[in-house]
Amino acid sequence: MYLQGIDSIVVENRSRQYSEQRVRAGVLEQGTVDLLTEMGVGERMKTEGLVHHGIELRFGGRGHRIDFQDLTGGKGITIYAQHEVLKDLNNARVATGGQVFFEVRSVSVHDFDGSSPKIRYQKDGSAYELTCDFIAGCDGFHGICRPSIPAGVLTEYEREYPFGWLGILADAPPSSEELIYTHHDRGFALLSMRTPHISRLYLQCKPDENIDLWSDEKIWQELQIRLASDGWKLTEGQVLQKGITGMRSFVVEPMQYGRLLLAGDSAHIVPPTGAKGLNLAVADVQILARALKHFYDSGSRDLLDSYSEVCLRRVWKVQRFSWWMTSMLHRFPDQNPFDHRRQLAELDYVTSSRAAAKTLAENYVGLPME
Ligand code: DHB
Repeated sequence: MYLQGIDSIVVENRSRQYSEQRVRAGVLEQGTVDLLTEMGVGERMKTEGLVHHGIELRFGGRGHRIDFQDLTGGKGITIYAQHEVLKDLNNARVATGGQVFFEVRSVSVHDFDGSSPKIRYQKDGSAYELTCDFIAGCDGFHGICRPSIPAGVLTEYEREYPFGWLGILADAPPSSEELIYTHHDRGFALLSMRTPHISRLYLQCKPDENIDLWSDEKIWQELQIRLASDGWKLTEGQVLQKGITGMRSFVVEPMQYGRLLLAGDSAHIVPPTGAKGLNLAVADVQILARALKHFYDSGSRDLLDSYSEVCLRRVWKVQRFSWWMTSMLHRFPDQNPFDHRRQLAELDYVTSSRAAAKTLAENYVGLPME
């Protein structure tokens, strides 16, 4: 917004420190990288990010590479943690005199069905009210924006998965240069990384798994079993952090009401397989920024009116991809031997047919923006 000459204020209930330290996603699509670079916040990402040109799918104890470079005409992904992106965005905003109000309380949104929406909040014990032209509801799945839209306006589409992910950050050099998505009879496992010295690993677990029952030793043991492959070794290290991630597909339609426009997790959630959550949020705000610029340049509401429609076309395709990756790679508690064989056939197909591999690759690196 700043680059377009449009004023904005960020109202955030977490602290700056929290947003810059919370370990979350780590895979950036080419389009996300390009946008951050264009905005002038890509310097550190360029030097510290790890560019990957493929991933490995491992099943039946054997690895199969999906070569993005070859299949997408040179595209790739960049491994750079979400909280590092947050640091870069916070720094750029502060450096340009932009306002971010951290650690606010009791935020509420009002009058967005008229021409002068308001945001009320409390900070350091005092109450404030902001009047603005538009409210971007970027406050996540549990935020207050979506529930503030009157009953009957929104339709929700949802699917829960009967499993979660147990994730660790480990002081260990990644055992592979590229990510490894593993199908195993005992459940899914994923090897990822943050830096050349820090690994990020995930194990499929029960949706209500109690993290206290997973000692570091037990986590490594299970990772060793699921990721095992002839002639390959998983390097262990100190567990720096561990947590459980839920798995859900969720979409709300439409993504707007009056002058309140939802973006990111407030409007949709994808299961993490495929690494799309952050990238989808970035695509939303890119579409929103374009619509706002058009409005202030021309006075026309056309692009704002079609915001939800344009976003949702991408959202549903990304939902489909994330659901497909999840279904192909996880063990479902109610699956029978037929389902198991079908999963293996799907993996065999994706790693042996160029057409199928290309489908995975073009979705993984990110579909083109409309
Ligand atoms: C990571 C997370 C994902 O959901 C994924 O699909 C790949 C990598 C990660 O945190 O590195």
